Amino acid sequence: MSELFNVISAQRACRSFRDVPVTDAELELILDAAVHAPSAENRQPWEFVVVRDDAARAAIGEIISRGWEAVGREFSSSRLSPDLLADVERGATGGIAAAPVHIVVGADTYRGLAATSAESVFPAVQNLMLAAGALGLGTALTTIAVGFADELRAIVGFPNHIRPMAVVPIGHPARPLGPPRRDPFAIRSHRDRYGTPWS
Ligand SMILES: Cc1cc2nc3c(=O)[nH]c(=O)nc-3n(C[C@H](O)[C@H](O)[C@H](O)COP(=O)(O)O)c2cc1C
Repeated sequence: MSELFNVISAQRACRSFRDVPVTDAELELILDAAVHAPSAENRQPWEFVVVRDDAARAAIGEIISRGWEAVGREFSSSRLSPDLLADVERGATGGIAAAPVHIVVGADTYRGLAATSAESVFPAVQNLMLAAGALGLGTALTTIAVGFADELRAIVGFPNHIRPMAVVPIGHPARPLGPPRRDPFAIRSHRDRYGTPWS
């Protein structure tokens, strides 16, 4: 049990990876964790394309980089802390592309409810990232590429009724990520009514 809490507490976005492969055995543990997530009506609308192919990863990386150059950098530059901005920039301009595996996550809009696509898919993405963390692997939940849904669909072969939701790079972190910066739960938690402090 304590291992679970340690993995949750250590989870960070990783945008820089070593050139070390991720095995199928690791990916199977990760994907099995993903599909144990809850989903509306238990429709399990997730689809995961595990991309190792060099050309496909380069194409995904190119979309991410293009999205960053076109709108991401300008949008984010006044919103993110300098450290986070620099890390997101490094990720968008090659760090994410260099991950040995990209998992492109889709929501099947026939199988699931359109209104709850995100709510049904992102718990699985979180499971996936925590399982990767438990194996010592780094991940990042990225969505910049989903703004280019048709291009992303074409790269991984998603039909039109599968909506790309995220690209999660997976690999061995290039460096220790350090502890995440999060507000303490007590300032976001309330007893009985919003505004009644936890402590
Ligand atoms: C919905 C969502 C979209 C995100 N999109 C991106 C993205 O496109 N690129 C990226 O580098 N990080 C992305 N992130 C990662 C966040 O930047 C990261 O979770 C947050 O800054 C916390 O950083 P930490 O995990 O290192 O503490 C996204 C996270 C979420 C939840």
